[in-house]
Amino acid sequence: MSQNGSRVEQTLELFRAIRPTVLPSLLLCDFANLQREVERLEEAGVEALHLDVMDGQFVPNLSYGMPIVESLRRITSLKLDVHLMISSPKSYAKSFVEAGADAITFHIEAEPQPTELLDQIRSLGVAAGIAINPSTPIESILPFVPHCDLVLVMSVAAGFGGQAFNPIALDRLKYLRETFGPKLLLEVDGGVNCQTANAVTSHGADLLVVGSAIFREADYCQAMTRLRCNFKSFGAQSDA
Ligand code: DX5
Ligand code: ZN
Repeated sequence: MSQNGSRVEQTLELFRAIRPTVLPSLLLCDFANLQREVERLEEAGVEALHLDVMDGQFVPNLSYGMPIVESLRRITSLKLDVHLMISSPKSYAKSFVEAGADAITFHIEAEPQPTELLDQIRSLGVAAGIAINPSTPIESILPFVPHCDLVLVMSVAAGFGGQAFNPIALDRLKYLRETFGPKLLLEVDGGVNCQTANAVTSHGADLLVVGSAIFREADYCQAMTRLRCNFKSFGAQSDA
């Protein structure tokens, strides 16, 4: 296996070893004190970060780009899971790999023929996945899932933190797990909190992206403990 191929496998093996796990979403954090925020998350036992990149075109919101990813790469060894909510992922994916991403997901709504981009991201040593909004038919990604290391099932419409959880994500998680088996990493994003954590994991979610349920709390350790006590270890999930 090539060096890049083994780098992808190393990332995937880590995620499979720690699943289900919480990935704090860096959108609602205190960007004026980013290094301190990352230190607090590391002290809370976080094992990977979810970076919400928004371009103001694909979603009606603007967040940040490669400079923030590069800065994070310099200050932490945590895995960086980059969620591209941008209208032209083909144009920027390589730049986010060079900035230090360990995993990149981009939206099927922005790239309806994703195979080539998925393969390009993997060939650069980074785990590759497709993200899908609640309003997009699940059939739109099915032909491409075999080319994915992970699938990001959105439980809110991409663009903002603090939205209400859409339960359509549960049916999708269950269907994807039953159809593609245990190897595929399933990520869920949006409105994941103490009330929804058990449901998403029992329906198959491995990577739980959490924003407001962490960053609206004063104590990140407490927030993470509360979230973790709501789901069981992988394989111990009750039948959905
Ligand atoms: C929304 C982002 C999510 C969001 C999660 O477009 O992709 O990662 O920040 O925030 P909460 O957990 O507050 O829904
Ligand atoms: Zn996200």
